[in-house]
Amino acid sequence: MSAEPYSAVSLIAAKRDGRELSDSEIGWLIESYLAGSVAEEQMAALLMAVYFNSMSDQELVSLTRAIVDSGERMDLSRLSRPTVDKHSTGGVGDKVSLILAPMLAAVGAAVPQLSGRGLGHTGGTLDKLESIPGWRSALSPSEIMRNLDRVGCVICAAGAGLAPADRRLYALRDVTATVESIPLIAASIISKKLAEGTSALLLDVKVGRGAFMKSLERAEELARTMVDLGQRFGVATKAVLTAMDDPLGRAVGNALEVEEALEVLSGGGPADLVELCVELARTMAELAGLDADPRRTLSDGSAMDHFRAMVAAQGGDVEAQLPRAKFVERFSAAEAGYVSSVDAMRVGEVAWRLGAGRDRKEDPVSATAGVICLAKAGDRVAKGQPLFEIHADDPARLAGARAGLQRALRIAGSPPSPQPLILGRLG
Ligand code: URA
Repeated sequence: MSAEPYSAVSLIAAKRDGRELSDSEIGWLIESYLAGSVAEEQMAALLMAVYFNSMSDQELVSLTRAIVDSGERMDLSRLSRPTVDKHSTGGVGDKVSLILAPMLAAVGAAVPQLSGRGLGHTGGTLDKLESIPGWRSALSPSEIMRNLDRVGCVICAAGAGLAPADRRLYALRDVTATVESIPLIAASIISKKLAEGTSALLLDVKVGRGAFMKSLERAEELARTMVDLGQRFGVATKAVLTAMDDPLGRAVGNALEVEEALEVLSGGGPADLVELCVELARTMAELAGLDADPRRTLSDGSAMDHFRAMVAAQGGDVEAQLPRAKFVERFSAAEAGYVSSVDAMRVGEVAWRLGAGRDRKEDPVSATAGVICLAKAGDRVAKGQPLFEIHADDPARLAGARAGLQRALRIAGSPPSPQPLILGRLG
């Protein structure tokens, strides 16, 4: 007779038939999956049952807790600064983390930004920072604490000890077409933030053709689920829904995005990127209980000082030139008119195919490949005016990039109506 309290088959059948699983059943499933006594195919079947039947609020809390309990939890309570973090569901040209973390540190917060790498058409924060010579993403828990204490912000890889169940579950979701389940996404994202130990959290849920969530309705559902979940665990959580139809800023690609982030930290940069950073930074400061205007940190140089200190604390050479691609080519307008849209998904795919992104998580990425959008929606362009700059290490990839960018941009006879960047707020 089995000594196990439950049978995986019975729990899969229960979830398949719409019965709510208890806290102890969910805890057992996750623990047994990690221990190897619940098989991959059983967990795959359970994930598919969740995909179709969703989860109750109580099940979601239990799953999130079980994922957190599968590993270590950082204790940031001895820091003298209030902690606040941000999570973006991912977009094209989204280099916001590189700017926000030092902005918040400059107004007195501690930002423990444990980040991931990019997959597919969206870039990863760690890949971007790795284009800075010497910068390293792997830090020990004591280094993270020291840098949070001294600098106020850290962007680094989440250690293997944090939420290990999420790593296993995510890999399985990836190969079983169950990534898109809202409760599974919410549990995955919130569990990692709980394990990281932040007291406040802002979720930037991207909506549009370049985002994971294509419709406002789905994005709102995901945002509401994550805000409720974070709050249930005592984390001050808010969400902002932001447009991701067109790339954010102009640069798409690892070193190119670091360069653009440096422009913003120097008080310049594209208007949409600056607007979003200021908006998110204000909300994060509020969540952290700080009465400060983070916009001034861009004009007075204090955000830049914190960025340089953060990079140097992780071995990065802040004086070094960022690497440049060997081949840079411009792509020009075939007709005059107004740019009505620049398709973020298509630009993201071009940058990915140039080498800026990866197909599988173990693949390397190019630091230098990518695209600069010289024209943005609403701009008036003349025939022959450059629209994009293509950066490639391999000239054989230029033709494919030109063809992809041709399909990404639309030119019309009249200017498009301006689209808001902030589509909603929750929490
Ligand atoms: N990002 C995560 O961390 N988890 C998901 O499930 C989806 C996006």
